[in-house]
Amino acid sequence: MNKRDNPYTPGAGRKPRTLAGRDHDIEAFQSLVERLNAGTYERSLVYTGLRGVGKTVLLMEFDVLASEAGWATTDVQEVGSSPDFRSTFARMAVRLLMNMSRRHRAKQRIERALSVVKAFSIAIPGAVELRLDVEAATGVADSGDPEQDLAGLLREIGEVAQANQMGALFLIDEMQNLDGPGLAAICMAFQAISRGGLPVTMVGAGLPELRVRLLAAKPYADRLFSYAELGRLSESAARSALVGPAAAAGIGYDEEAARQIVAESAGFPYFIQEYGRELWNFAESSPIELADLDGARDIVKDTLARNFFGTRFEMATDTEQKYLTAMASLGDGPYPVAAIARAYGVDDQRKVSVHRESLIQKGLIWSPRRGQLDFTVPLFGEYLRDSVAPN
Ligand SMILES: Nc1ncnc2c1ncn2[C@@H]1O[C@H](COP(=O)(O)OP(=O)(O)O)[C@@H](O)[C@H]1O
Ligand SMILES: [Mg+2]
Repeated sequence: MNKRDNPYTPGAGRKPRTLAGRDHDIEAFQSLVERLNAGTYERSLVYTGLRGVGKTVLLMEFDVLASEAGWATTDVQEVGSSPDFRSTFARMAVRLLMNMSRRHRAKQRIERALSVVKAFSIAIPGAVELRLDVEAATGVADSGDPEQDLAGLLREIGEVAQANQMGALFLIDEMQNLDGPGLAAICMAFQAISRGGLPVTMVGAGLPELRVRLLAAKPYADRLFSYAELGRLSESAARSALVGPAAAAGIGYDEEAARQIVAESAGFPYFIQEYGRELWNFAESSPIELADLDGARDIVKDTLARNFFGTRFEMATDTEQKYLTAMASLGDGPYPVAAIARAYGVDDQRKVSVHRESLIQKGLIWSPRRGQLDFTVPLFGEYLRDSVAPN
């Protein structure tokens, strides 16, 4: 098939032509919007999952749905790059208010809210000042206490949204990047506004450890948000993720080939996109058959190694790589830390705890339970066993 027309979308945050298996999430989100529109309280959502399961593109879909419902959104914002999370929130708040002012005429009210954002941003130690053509307000969101100020900021946004008969949506990606105080402030702020019936909400997404980190930040975090975990797609959803994009172009899959690709990709959305893309480029004609899969399999493996696994492995230092390889040598996870240490070749796991901490920091591994670790990259263990020589 012609490469130029390739309908597959492998890559972080690339919207798939067929968003498969997410009907339930879309319904849940739509009911969240409806309830907040009606003035009923509803918990914000937190999505967790391994890399490549489709968290970012789901947030992008919510962005579209919210806009269609007349809401203002922040767009999907990745957090963790600025040293203080409040800088990101200040920018998001400005975005929401600009969004609201475009569609509505309550100019004075919006200006006042902007002056609150300015006060909020001035109270952030060491942050670059926001260029806002308003005077900073006093007495709201300017105490310097992150929890209190963020609550003040959210309330301000919520009130403007309510006055404009719309809602405001924060879309926060890679939320596991935030530190403990940042997560605590977010919990506290959403907790504080939950009583006010204001139409402001958040959908956060992050690696699996996000849920544990939120709980560690505030014990009530488990009741404050609705959690959902994204994992592999069901057999039928995986199949429509594979078959859908090609079908729209009049290209089909032979039954057995489709089944085999779904099995080899283990239902992970990113892998399905890579298989689809390479098979499209490889196959001469429709339908795509088992023979095409056999012919293209090594190309797919090579692409995955280069674009996904390899780049992640190279984020680790030599000793960290040895630690990852030790994990993989134990079979499938989760892995007890003591067993990893033994496989690494030390008698005491404390001797390798710096590598472990650094790998967690880099988002390559996480701790599903105390004393246990696992990869954040799906099928990483399998990849390492197949391609990295034991040391
Ligand atoms: N529901 C889905 N159906 C089909 N493809 C998907 C789906 N969700 C994600 N993808 C594809 O999977 C890949 C990873 O998506 P992304 O949202 O970046 O994952 P994450 O943010 O969880 O790492 C992208 O190539 C995207 O096109
Ligand atoms: Mg993502």
